Amino acid sequence: MSERIAYAPFQKLVVSAEEAAQHVNHGDRVGISGFTGAGYPKGLPTAIAEKAKALHEKGEEFKIDVFSGASTAPDCDGVLAEAEAIRFRSPYNSDPTLRKQFNDGTALYQDIHLSHSGQQVEEGFYGDFQVAIIEAVRITEEGHVVPSSAVGNNLEYIEAADKIIIEINEWQSINLEGMHDIYRIEKLPNRQPIPITKPGDRIGTTYMEVPEEKVVAVVKTDAPDRNAPFKEPDEISEKIAANFIEFLEGEVAAGRLEYDKFIMQSGVGNVPNAVMAGLLDSKFENIQAYTEVIQDGMLDLIDAGKMTMASATSFALSPEYAEKMNAEAERYRKHIILRPQQVSNHPEVIRRVGLISSNGMIEADIYGNINSTNVSGSRIMNGTGGSGDFTRNAYISTFVSPSVAKDGAISALVPFVSHTDHTEHDTQIIVTEQGLADLRGLSPKQRARVIIDNCVHPSYRDALNKYFEDACKKGGQTPHLLGEAMQWHINLEE
Ligand code: COA
Repeated sequence: MSERIAYAPFQKLVVSAEEAAQHVNHGDRVGISGFTGAGYPKGLPTAIAEKAKALHEKGEEFKIDVFSGASTAPDCDGVLAEAEAIRFRSPYNSDPTLRKQFNDGTALYQDIHLSHSGQQVEEGFYGDFQVAIIEAVRITEEGHVVPSSAVGNNLEYIEAADKIIIEINEWQSINLEGMHDIYRIEKLPNRQPIPITKPGDRIGTTYMEVPEEKVVAVVKTDAPDRNAPFKEPDEISEKIAANFIEFLEGEVAAGRLEYDKFIMQSGVGNVPNAVMAGLLDSKFENIQAYTEVIQDGMLDLIDAGKMTMASATSFALSPEYAEKMNAEAERYRKHIILRPQQVSNHPEVIRRVGLISSNGMIEADIYGNINSTNVSGSRIMNGTGGSGDFTRNAYISTFVSPSVAKDGAISALVPFVSHTDHTEHDTQIIVTEQGLADLRGLSPKQRARVIIDNCVHPSYRDALNKYFEDACKKGGQTPHLLGEAMQWHINLEE
């Protein structure tokens, strides 16, 4: 442990998670590390949850507002939600217990673009932050803090909070030191450009500076990141991946892409992960990623010598791949850079590098509007995450999804989305297992034609064709029969 906490003044602050939890009080605004099941605090959440339960049993109130990089895991969001200790949560969640609380109204959720959240904390949109809880792999001899498997909004929470608690997690490989690139974005207005032109550019330090006077406790933990394993690619996701790679091949044939110039962004989820598995057997070489999370498929691409560089803010690795990362972090460090999420998801850099984005969706409509977040327009699934940061600013934006959900009971292509996260103006390519709709350069009515012809499952094609033809008889730039369009969603609810 002395190697892990090499700064003497911080060694004196080591306490148990239960003691550190005394610094967290009812009504506090708490910023935590963590992004997509990686790098979140492992000790404090359970200790805070126990504190909440004890107070609730005595009839006393205890709820906090929790801000993170993105989602965490059962031993963070999960335990806090089960203890009914969360009043407000932002900017992203995938925990099922907390999701249920958002949907039944017992907890509040603000789902925002991940590149925006840190700046909104800095600018005081939420008010004061009382506590920051940050997981790290090491505190250096100089008192610098080396983040763990996610950087997220750590800098913003460290700056905003009155008190800082550092968790040193011995499970995380010490060889993650050197993988991070910590760059603080300048304050507005008239900010200087972020000097990244390629995914592999390093522009910052490998550690975070932490104001010593704010650090009130250091807690030792030894617990794994807990991401759910990915589903094995099935026939549907393999077809989606094949269609996506055919699209990339078409870009090469059209002279807009070269086999060794593909820069990718890949969203969370099983389907985007399957697309990466498809890239393994493709002709693409020297693939680079300027993305948000490093998923299993990217480690496979690195191992196969297909991917040379991946820039992200976090890992989103299955338990098996997280162990692999821990064992071989020194090797992966040459190919991976972890950055603050304001940088990994920054529109300025995304536009400059010229990447092809690829994200999952809940549903798309016949004109290309995309719902990534709310089932039946009302029930939150996860959140928009970084999908908006990348989709709006990518060189080419794509959405990948099965054409139906719930064993065919629901069409993922509908007349009108029940909730909009990305508008028809942002969506360029939609890929399902049925085929690919290339919406570039098309008017809304032309777009509807290629979406229905290429992406829709055969069992819904006639119904969508009839809807579109009837709507066209009524006329308009984006023809709709609103009552009929909403009837699709009413049918689902009923
Ligand atoms: N209606 C109802 N449920 C639907 C649905 C629809 N039209 N489409 C998908 N679902 C359900 C699936 O049935 C599945 O439910 P289950 O967990 O009960 O089995 C769940 O949504 C996930 O769908 P799946 O097909 O496994 O796809 P996925 O893992 O690729 O996830 C999203 C799809 C949209 C949920 C996911 O991509 C997401 O949260 N995206 C938003 C954030 C984002 O894009 N981040 C990346 C930015 S870097």
